[in-house]
Amino acid sequence: MTAIDDSTARDPDALRADMVRALRDQDGITSESVAAAFSAVPRHLFAPGAPLARAYDLHGIVPVKQDEHGLNTSVMSAAHLQAVMLEQADVKPGMRVLEIGSGGYNAALMQELVGSDGVVTTVDIDRDIVDRARLCLDDAGYSQVKTVLADGETGVPDGAPYDRIIVTAAAWDIPPSWISGLTENGRLVVPLTVRGTTRSIAFDRGGEGLISHSYRLANFVPMQGEGAAKERKAMLREGVAVQTDDEQVPLNVEGLNHALDTPRREFWSGAAYDLPDELELYLTLHLSSPARLHASAEVIASGLVDASTRLGVPTLVTEDSFAYRTRRENEDTGGFESGVVAHGPQAEALADEYLRLLRRWAQDHRRRGAATIRFLPGPASSTLPENSVLKRHGVVAVSWH
Ligand SMILES: C[S@@+](CC[C@H](N)C(=O)[O-])C[C@H]1O[C@@H](n2cnc3c(N)ncnc32)[C@H](O)[C@@H]1O
Repeated sequence: MTAIDDSTARDPDALRADMVRALRDQDGITSESVAAAFSAVPRHLFAPGAPLARAYDLHGIVPVKQDEHGLNTSVMSAAHLQAVMLEQADVKPGMRVLEIGSGGYNAALMQELVGSDGVVTTVDIDRDIVDRARLCLDDAGYSQVKTVLADGETGVPDGAPYDRIIVTAAAWDIPPSWISGLTENGRLVVPLTVRGTTRSIAFDRGGEGLISHSYRLANFVPMQGEGAAKERKAMLREGVAVQTDDEQVPLNVEGLNHALDTPRREFWSGAAYDLPDELELYLTLHLSSPARLHASAEVIASGLVDASTRLGVPTLVTEDSFAYRTRRENEDTGGFESGVVAHGPQAEALADEYLRLLRRWAQDHRRRGAATIRFLPGPASSTLPENSVLKRHGVVAVSWH
């Protein structure tokens, strides 16, 4: 957690002022309007029961509800992420805004941004969350925010079109209602999961569909209901999983487990490793058989797999072999060099494909913001655009510059 000065630890106003200062310092807040909103809304009133220091922590979530396995289904998102998304959304006075995924706090921030002439509606699929958000909003003096119980997949037609739609659960797809529910100059800010990585993407209308204005890595609880992600996941063994949303990719538990028991081989690219967001996007869209390898802290500590698997790493898989990205410090160039760890009988061939991509990215596309992400709604044509991912309601296509 971000360090809090003890002398102010019991005073929410002082904690809030500290939070706003730190959010500015860390480029979460970049505009005066968002700073004013964060200064105005008493964040701790939306986290009743949580320690004040936790409520005002920049990067910590406040858990709200868990499922039967103990996984969070609802949290108060981290202040830093909320600030980033509100800056992406560029909410102006008088706008009509829809939030999908409620909690109360973010809706209150948006009410500050739209002012008394604007309208904020927040929808959640879970009755407990809607009831809780309603209580917190009323308690904090934001009774004008509308709360709705529904699956956000269908939007909230009563109130559309919206100038802004801000989604606060990880979406696997963009349903038609989110596009038709936007005004002509509207903007959709959505944590969209593409090949297992979630980015908060600000989309404007463009061409036949949507075109990205900005994107940032983001972590969110998954969308429930109609739009829930349909990914395949294979547990290779305790603490090691492989996951993919590509139907063509084989997930052969026995073959991959056997590969994991074969000696680990390392291959080095000579290319720089940095800007992980762009690099991961490039890799997942270009690998011929893409999945993500995840491992627990215990398995990583045992040395069986590399630390790059901690949050999931783009992995090239076949029936009996796999290869994934790693890095090492490079004394010659400073910084890091990217490389590949590979297991199984096809280790060398897979590493070759992977290394080619690492080098091409470093040579041609190694720039922040180098990707433009498009969403093309409707049934996919028989020929998908290059570097694209098929979803249920359309295609995500990425171009590089
Ligand atoms: C990260 S929390 C929302 C945080 C909130 N915006 C805040 O102010 O901190 C995500 C929420 O999305 C909700 N959710 C998940 N799937 C949904 C769906 N299909 N429609 C509406 N809400 C959904 C969950 O119930 C959960 O409360």
